[in-house]
Amino acid sequence: MGGALLSLALLSPAIPADAAANADALLIQRCSVCHADARGQLARIAGQRKTPEGWLMTLVRMQNTHGLKISDEERRALVKRLADKQGLAPSETAPVRYALERRLNTVEQFESEALTQMCARCHSGARVALQRRSEKEWAHLVHFHLGQLPSLEFQSLGRDRDWFGVALKEVVPDLAKQFSVDDPAWKDWQAQTPQPVTGTWSVSGHLPGKGGFIAEMSVKSQPDKKDHYVVSWQGKYDDGSVLNGQGSAVLYTGYEWRAHVDVDGVAWRQVFALDHDALKGRMFQREHDEIGADIVAVRHESGNSRVLAVHPAYLKTGQTGTLTVVGNALSGKLALPEGVRLLKIIEQSPRRIVAQVVADRRALGVHTLSVGKTKGGTLAVFERIERIRVLPEFAVARVGGNGGSEARVDARFEAEAWARSASGEYRIGLVPAKWSVAPFNADAERDRDVEFAGAMNAVTGIFTPAPAGPNPARHLMTNNAGNLAVTAEVTDGKTALQGTGQLIVTVQRWNNPPIP
Ligand code: HEC
Ligand code: HEC
Repeated sequence: MGGALLSLALLSPAIPADAAANADALLIQRCSVCHADARGQLARIAGQRKTPEGWLMTLVRMQNTHGLKISDEERRALVKRLADKQGLAPSETAPVRYALERRLNTVEQFESEALTQMCARCHSGARVALQRRSEKEWAHLVHFHLGQLPSLEFQSLGRDRDWFGVALKEVVPDLAKQFSVDDPAWKDWQAQTPQPVTGTWSVSGHLPGKGGFIAEMSVKSQPDKKDHYVVSWQGKYDDGSVLNGQGSAVLYTGYEWRAHVDVDGVAWRQVFALDHDALKGRMFQREHDEIGADIVAVRHESGNSRVLAVHPAYLKTGQTGTLTVVGNALSGKLALPEGVRLLKIIEQSPRRIVAQVVADRRALGVHTLSVGKTKGGTLAVFERIERIRVLPEFAVARVGGNGGSEARVDARFEAEAWARSASGEYRIGLVPAKWSVAPFNADAERDRDVEFAGAMNAVTGIFTPAPAGPNPARHLMTNNAGNLAVTAEVTDGKTALQGTGQLIVTVQRWNNPPIP
């Protein structure tokens, strides 16, 4: 008995209880079985850098496909270790953060047609652009694709070409140049002093379908856990409803803020980037990532004077409005552009100024406000709305529920108003609208998509798709998919304006990895 225990212990060396503190040892213990090369180094693991989500996807593949056995706690510790030591610099993630932030209605545009056709037809191009590899590692990746997904040669945009040959001869050298593991941005980033994140943050955000909000977020260190934080939220939407929550956060790679926050009983995730006492990004519901708010935040303890935002961000001439300026270390006078007259300061503190104002025609246009010496936040003054744009112009909703494993995915639209001045068009901001849907084309009309695909809320612009599954009432018993034109109607005084967008209602997303 004793002998058996002893040999077991030798075969699988005990992993110390605190996986995070021993991530280096864990990497060797868990990965070397398959990855140790002749020199005893971990082949394939060096030569790549990626985001926390990127590392998570690789590790989950090791578990699902190759049989790696690790606990959830060990996986978390390994993701942290790998993202910290082989991560991406802020400048490397900046152009493609939409994928991390799960803005799934983004329409990607890459210069390289090869990348679009060869790679970004199965997953986002961002999944590629969020990695840095040596040329050898880009080539290994191509081999892995063909080995694991051999049918890619028979698919559209695969069978019309020598996919493997083009990938190795053309795409790989290009990727190695564009997305090199040796990009100096990473060395520069690693040389920087770590940025503090604890303290209290002023947050300004906007949730489509609901409106603006202002919140305070408190961030405290978790004892004995480097880069792990306890988070609590207190805030209010512009319409007065509250927004309170608490949760925990991890800071990866010195700037990648990832938090789980429970807001009034609903689980939300935060994907923010830390940038010198400022946070920026998106928070979205864990189970419904289409429901998400853009946020910006500033840390009080920085002492940096900053204007974050003005709520609301626009004013119509001749109407009295109440502006809330949010920021940090605000001192001095609120300076308004010429033509905006201050009627009364309702509240003034270092973090918030509430002012009642009225604007006349001299103020038409977009202005940056200032408080004392600090400039920031924009205010648009308009007389007439010229044009309405529907955002997003193109959206996808998905049928779901009805006993199936995938929940439905809503679409959320907003109406963006534009004005015209002598020097051209300028953006006013997001305005309330009356929403409706219509058949996008003759096929949609014939198949009565409007009736079957779901319902548009006329007030909020939220489209709720119909239940999943075949529908006996439809032509060929098809499901509740549809192709709809989305219209926002906005009234400005006596004028009614319209903007349109397109909504595809389609089937469930069966495969929903962290990076689309
Ligand atoms: C049971 C064997 C096995 C174990 C254990 C294993 N791997 Fe792998 N790993 C593989 C195989 C096979 C490949 C090549 C195919 C692929 O990329 O999926 C691979 C590839 C990789 C790659 C390259 C992926 C890419 O996209 O190019 C990385 C990085 C990696 N493994 C990391 C790890 C880490 C970290 C561990 C330990 C926590 C680990 N692996 C444990 C079998 C294993
Ligand atoms: C046939 C569809 C398909 C095509 C074409 C395709 N991919 Fe992928 N790719 C996948 C799938 C599926 C995965 C996820 C594998 C997993 O983790 O289980 C993936 C994963 C990846 C990853 C993450 C791998 C990791 O573990 O870090 C990268 C990077 C990537 N692909 C780049 C590319 C590039 C570059 C091309 C073009 C040369 C390409 N892909 C073409 C299907 C495709």
